Amino acid sequence: MRVLVTGGAGFIGSHTVDRLLEIGHEAVVLDALVTPVHPEGRRPAYLSKEVDFYQGDVRNRDLVANLLRRVDAVYHFAAHQDYLPDFSRFSDVNVVSTALIYEVAVAERLDLARVVVASSQAAMGEGLYCCPTDGEQVPGMRPEADLAAGRWEIPCPTCGGPLQMMATPERVSNPQNAYGMSKLAEEMVAVNLGKRYGIPTVALRYSIVQGPRQSVYNAYSGACRIFCLSYMLGQAPVLYEDGQNVRDYVNIQDVVDANLLVLEDEAAVGHVLNVGGGQAVTTAQFAETVRAQYCSDLPPQVTGEYRFGDTRHILSDVSALGRLGWKPQRTPAESVKAYAEWLRDMPGLDAVLTEANARMRTLGVVRKAGS
Ligand SMILES: NC(=O)c1ccc[n+]([C@@H]2O[C@H](COP(=O)([O-])OP(=O)(O)OC[C@H]3O[C@@H](n4cnc5c(N)ncnc54)[C@H](O)[C@@H]3O)[C@@H](O)[C@H]2O)c1
Repeated sequence: MRVLVTGGAGFIGSHTVDRLLEIGHEAVVLDALVTPVHPEGRRPAYLSKEVDFYQGDVRNRDLVANLLRRVDAVYHFAAHQDYLPDFSRFSDVNVVSTALIYEVAVAERLDLARVVVASSQAAMGEGLYCCPTDGEQVPGMRPEADLAAGRWEIPCPTCGGPLQMMATPERVSNPQNAYGMSKLAEEMVAVNLGKRYGIPTVALRYSIVQGPRQSVYNAYSGACRIFCLSYMLGQAPVLYEDGQNVRDYVNIQDVVDANLLVLEDEAAVGHVLNVGGGQAVTTAQFAETVRAQYCSDLPPQVTGEYRFGDTRHILSDVSALGRLGWKPQRTPAESVKAYAEWLRDMPGLDAVLTEANARMRTLGVVRKAGS
């Protein structure tokens, strides 16, 4: 197959391209090489020379139409991801570009064998909980007053009692930030227009994907980057809240396995499917994994800082994709090792860490309880 990969110069896209080429497909990449992911706006060295590469925007109709006419399938990975409050840009890049793919495919009666769109665990917001008294609960965002007072756990929205976190299945859609809302809209546009017009479509909800090539310049790329950079530079990382937030980390090669599976498996068509690590890991446990990788004797610090709008706990239920034969096979320790090796020879990393920390505080994303 000849496959268009939007955002193919990025983290998930480039690894997917590698695997496509490895198993005999052809890859066409459309990527705008945006900052901060590509600070120099240049085609990254890791992107295979074998791809047919186009630098351009996924919202450019002529360009998208030209490329769609020449391919059999599409992975739509290009997206705006950030903590900035530029709400309209999330919809503009993530939703409009998705709608454009279907608009062109319908207008030109293109025979696409598959469209796979990248959604996110963020579409599920705070996820699913169970209250012993009131049953299933899908809570909203935690009130700022609770966070400022250092009350981290979410009480039952009905009785106020304690809740038990559950693995969240795809039926839960409850995004709490502009990014998650745009990803939910992207899924709906893709899966529903796909059904309506007979374009076989799959939406994959990734949890936190980890591995080499994850941009060190992107504030959105999270704990692996910050913890690795901190330990590499001999500093103890800060854990937000009490470090007991549950997260779900999935290795990039497991994600690529899922991407390739749904490209050909007809049973995936028309579905939104979670792709996660299948294991609840607290940020404190994850920091320990990173500390072990760097053989550091500096324990991570809990300072009362928290991130505005952060999810307390989230773990994706991956049983639906499991029924298609997929399961996560690599551990967070393997992801950290591969990422740390990739970071090792990169220049200018101390400035990256300082800037990232300063930016999150200037934006008011990182705040302190009790202040
Ligand atoms: N990495 C994760 O943990 C994760 C988790 C959940 C969902 N996702 C989703 O997976 C997809 C890929 O994420 P990633 O981690 O590889 O991100 P990334 O930033 O590494 O790659 C995205 C690529 O898209 C390109 N791009 C951005 N805006 C564009 C535009 N308007 N036109 C053309 N290209 C544009 C960027 O230049 C970049 O190369 C995204 O849709 C993201 O929302 C990622």
